This record gives sequence, structure tokens and C-alpha cells, in this order.
Amino acid sequence: MKQTVTSSQVETKDLIPSFVKNEALISWVTSVHELCQPDRVHWCDGSDEEYKRLCQEMVAAGTLIPLNQQKRPNSFLARSDATDVARVEDRTFICSQRKQDAGPTNNWANPVEMKANLKELFKGSMRGRTMYVIPFSMGPLGSPYSHIGVEISDSPYVVVNMKIMTRMGRKALDVLANGFFVPCLHSVGAPLERGQKDVAWPCNPEKKYIVHFPEERSIWSYGSGYGGNALLGKKCFALRIASVLGRDQDWLAEHMLILGAESPTGEKTYVAAAFPSACGKTNFAMIVPPKGFDGWKITTVGDDIAWIKPGADGKLYAINPEAGYFGVAPGTSPESNPNAIATVASNTIFTNVALTPDGDVWWEDLTHEAPAQLIDWQGKPWTPDCGRKASHPNARFTAPASQCPSVDANWDNPKGVPISALIFGGRRASTVPLVYQSFNWNFGVYLAATIGSEMTAAAGGTIGQVRRDPMAMLPFCGYNMGDYFNHWLQMGRSIANPPRIFSVNWFRKDENGKYMWPGFGENMRVLKWIIDRVHGRAFAEESPLGWMPRYQDLEWKGSDFKKESFYKLMKVDREQWKAEVLSQEELFEKLYDKLPKEFFLMRELLLSGLWRSPKNWGLAEERYLENSN
Ligand code: GTP
Ligand code: SPV
Ligand code: MN
Repeated sequence: MKQTVTSSQVETKDLIPSFVKNEALISWVTSVHELCQPDRVHWCDGSDEEYKRLCQEMVAAGTLIPLNQQKRPNSFLARSDATDVARVEDRTFICSQRKQDAGPTNNWANPVEMKANLKELFKGSMRGRTMYVIPFSMGPLGSPYSHIGVEISDSPYVVVNMKIMTRMGRKALDVLANGFFVPCLHSVGAPLERGQKDVAWPCNPEKKYIVHFPEERSIWSYGSGYGGNALLGKKCFALRIASVLGRDQDWLAEHMLILGAESPTGEKTYVAAAFPSACGKTNFAMIVPPKGFDGWKITTVGDDIAWIKPGADGKLYAINPEAGYFGVAPGTSPESNPNAIATVASNTIFTNVALTPDGDVWWEDLTHEAPAQLIDWQGKPWTPDCGRKASHPNARFTAPASQCPSVDANWDNPKGVPISALIFGGRRASTVPLVYQSFNWNFGVYLAATIGSEMTAAAGGTIGQVRRDPMAMLPFCGYNMGDYFNHWLQMGRSIANPPRIFSVNWFRKDENGKYMWPGFGENMRVLKWIIDRVHGRAFAEESPLGWMPRYQDLEWKGSDFKKESFYKLMKVDREQWKAEVLSQEELFEKLYDKLPKEFFLMRELLLSGLWRSPKNWGLAEERYLENSN
């Protein structure tokens, strides 16, 4: 099969291999080729040989550093340009035809003007480079839940990452046949003039554009080679474009992990959980039950994205559209996440972590003591006392899902898994208790819409500045957030058997600024209560916010966590909650024209609940005081 052609002699018959039949794909590839003027074209088949060859080429070019074969087989380190280290939210655009369809929480630009601008930028942008055509499936190949995309990119780093993160190559093209695909155009924006030497991490330091055309269902990304900016199947397709597909087709594309919990009796329960970026999804998805949970098994379906659709039985079913993990490295250790550590033991691409003298990787908190010498993420010598971080805080690993020891037997099931609970959590130093269950779907949507993270938390219970991150989707919703809330409410009206909705907060701090909850594996105690509630087994008390466990409703075997600490962690402080409910107004006001009427009513109900006599609240101050002596 001839797959590589050079541009000087490219004619359509050479540019498009004979096995490509999709007319829309043929005409798109032809027009992109003409616009971007690459030197070479390569249709990715997704084979291991192709992966190996591209890695070797990147080693020769200095983009990848091969790691020690004994310690980290078939693994590589990439160091990005120091200016290209994370998603760029201020350069991310939703170019719907009408501004109001992007809504006030997205950057909008006129699609006609933006397209013209992008065409100028992409003109000749791949000169001197290879244009890779990367067919991929988000979701198991051929699943009714899945969607096909084709990314065109001039970055071989993107190709090898897409091979890990998606079902990529010839198989995806076969599934596509003559069907619909999302065209995803990507260029690092660094054409090479004749004789110009390439750099290890080409990108465009001045111009970056991550652009979505929701009506056209297309993506144009220019200038960055990093993560969600460049691996277009992930946030751009599986969240921003897919959220629009979900709105139009009655399903949900969410920033959620999916996990399975098997009890000692063999009962299996699946839950999905939305936490904002870098708030612990990967950790929770791979949680290892602590002491006292013999016989419990937690399994991982996904760690970042869930596509959720109603099934014929009135339940919601979810798939993980991805095939790998693009996880935050710093903070990942054998104690905090042993499953992730095992997952990245081989066949892994590390980006922006530090290199050890023996050719292995290191990052902050991987070990208690830092190695005496390292090469840091920018390629400079590093010692523990040098005052710099060895790895970038957003350093990541790309590893196949199948390598995770806790991977769920159904992670690849084309039918998805039934979801019994949806969990929402932000990073809140104050105010929000460890766990509560919403009264019903509508209250659950309200609580999800109002989650957020505190920027700073002053000690002594003062409320810090809260950035609201509805459903953990603020940077990822491809349309008007007000319409998105209505879509969530509408889903609740149309499904017979909706999951129960819970709020969790692992991050509450005491008056000394210390986390009050040990977190990580200990979160299993909260998860078990959630599962027991779902199955109608666990007791809960009514509070102004929803249903809450008493101390004795959680499993404490193997823990010495004190009853009074628990009630402190669960405390619903009336003054703090009055301020909280009032501060939600800021988000609501921004979305005023589209805000569901239910939200105003629920806000009033929450407020009025807070005015009830504290004596009547199971978990109010009096109760807490009673239990603390
Ligand atoms: P994205 O991949 O960016 O979407 O994020 P993620 O939600 O998967 O983030 P990740 O799991 O990498 O979050 C890591 C951060 O959460 C680190 O700072 C961890 O220390 C912290 N973290 C995770 N679980 C817990 C917990 O139970 N308690 C506390 N205190 N911190 C936690
Ligand atoms: C996130 O930022 O939520 C991520 C990483 O999961 S990225 O894919 O770069 O968006
Ligand atoms: Mn994420």
C-alpha cells in the first residue's frame, strides 16, 4: 500500500489512496493539501510499525528522547516549547453563526471573518513538513455511541498521541465508509523555508487559534502542539463539538470520569463524576479501596470524558470516547495513584517531566525524596536546591487505557455501562460539605451548575473568590451555557430512571488551612455511601441542601477519622451558605436571558431552607456542637 507521496508531483490520484471512498473526505483532504502546501502526505494506518517509525523519526529530529528500555520500555520524553505548555482558553473560540449561540461564557468570533483569517494563516503553513491524515473513532469502533473524526496535522507528535488516545487508523476509515465525520484541521503554524532547520517542538509563539464551527461541526487549530490544543479528538471534538451534537440529538457529552464499583457480594454499580481540570478525576477513576474494604473492587472505564445517552430501559448509559489517558504527572505517586503508576510503566509518552541520569522520568511527588540530579523539563540541569520545579505543573503522560490494572471489563463495550449516580465536585476550601445528595434531578442540575473552585481561601472561614465552573464544563461547552442547563433539565424530564445526583468536596480546609479530609483512597468511604443510597440501603438526613449521611452511615472500618471531625467536615454553615447562594447570582445574571426558570425557584427554596430553625436541621451547628463533645 503506497501511502507517502511528495507534493511536487501530487495529483489527486496520488494524494488520495485507492481505499479512500468517502467523497467528503476526498474533497476536504484535497482542499487542505492545496491550502497548506505540505511537502509530503501520509495517510495513517494506525499500525504499530507506523508508530515505531514515527517515534524513531522524532528521536532523530530531537522531538522525542527515548527512555531507558529496561526501566521504561518503549517510552519517550517530549519537551515542549516553554510557551506551549497547556490549553489556551483565551485563544479558544466558538464561531457559531449567532453570537448568542456561543453565549457569554465562550469567546465568539464571526465565523465568516474567522474562516477568512484562518485561511490566511493556514496558507502554506505546512511547507517543508508532512501532512498526516489521521482517521479516528471516538468511542469503540462501530458502536452506536461513537463518532468518527479525521484530523489533518503536520505534527508527528500528534499522530503518536492520537494512536494512544483514540481508535486510530485504517479501521476507523473502514467504519467511516461513506458516512459523516468531523473534520479537524491542525497545524503547528511553523512552516519550514527551503534549507531551514527544524526545532524540536515547532509551534507559533505569536499566533494561536483553537476554533470551533459548531453548525459546520468542524475544528481548526493553529499554532500549538500541546494537549487539548492539538489532540483534537479530546476537548475540541469529544466535548465542544460533541456537546452540540448531544444538544441536537438528546444526549450529553461531559467532562466526567466513569468508574465501576463491585461489592463483596458481586453487585456492580457504575457512576460518573465531573470535577474541573486538575481536581482529581484520574485519581478517583483509579481509586484503590482502603483498609476495611476487603472484597470491594473499583474499575476504571474512563478518566476524563463521558458520552451519556438514554437507553431503551430508561437508564442512562455511558461510554468513554477515549482509548488512553492524558493525565497530569506531578502529584501522581505509588501512594496517591498506584494504578496510574502501573499504567505508565511502558509504552508511554511523557511530556514536560524531568529526566533522571539513568534515562527514566521523574516529577514532583513521584518519590518522597527528589533525585540528587535531574535534567528538568526545559532540558536544564536541576538539583533539589535550585529553586525551580523539575517538571512543569501541567506535565502529562499519554498511556493506553488497556494498560491500567484497574481497567473495567466493559471499558470498551460498544453498549456502554449503565450509570446509577452522577457526582459533581469542585475545589472548595470552605462552605461545601464532604458529601450530600440532591433532593431530585432538578436540584441536582442546579447544584452541578453552581460548582466551582476557590482561587484563594483565607483562613478563618472567610469565603475566597469562587470561579464557577458549571458541570466542570466552563471551558468545554460548545454552545450557550444557559441552553446547556435547559438541555440537562430536559434530559431529566425524558428519562424514566435517572441517576441520583451527588455533590462531593475533598478539599475543605480547617481554620489552619489544612485539608480536613484525607482524600484519595479514603474517598471510597464516601463512594460506598453513594452506592448504598443508589440502591436504597443507606440512611440519610434531610438538610437544607439535600440528603446527608450521619457519621454512622459511612463505613469507618480501618479508619480513625473522628466523629467530631466528620461533623465539622459536613457542617452547613447558615451564614456561609447565605453568602454562597447570593454569590451564585453572579453566574445567573450573566446567563440571564437563557436561565431556566427552575433555577430562580430552586435558589429561593435553598435560601428559605436556610431560614429554618437550626434545631430542625440534622447537621446544623447545634447538631455539630452536640456531637463534638
Ligand atoms: P484533567 O486531566 O486536567 O481534566 O484533570 P483531572 O481531574 O484528571 O486531574 P487529576 O486527577 O490529575 O488531579 C490532580 C490533582 O488533584 C492533584 O493536585 C492531586 O493532589 C489532587 N487530588 C486528587 N484527589 C484528591 C483528594 O482526594 N484529595 C486532595 N486533597 N487532593 C486530591
Ligand atoms: C484538561 O485540561 O481538562 C485536560 C487536559 O484534560 S487537555 O487535554 O490538555 O485539555
Ligand atoms: Mn480534562
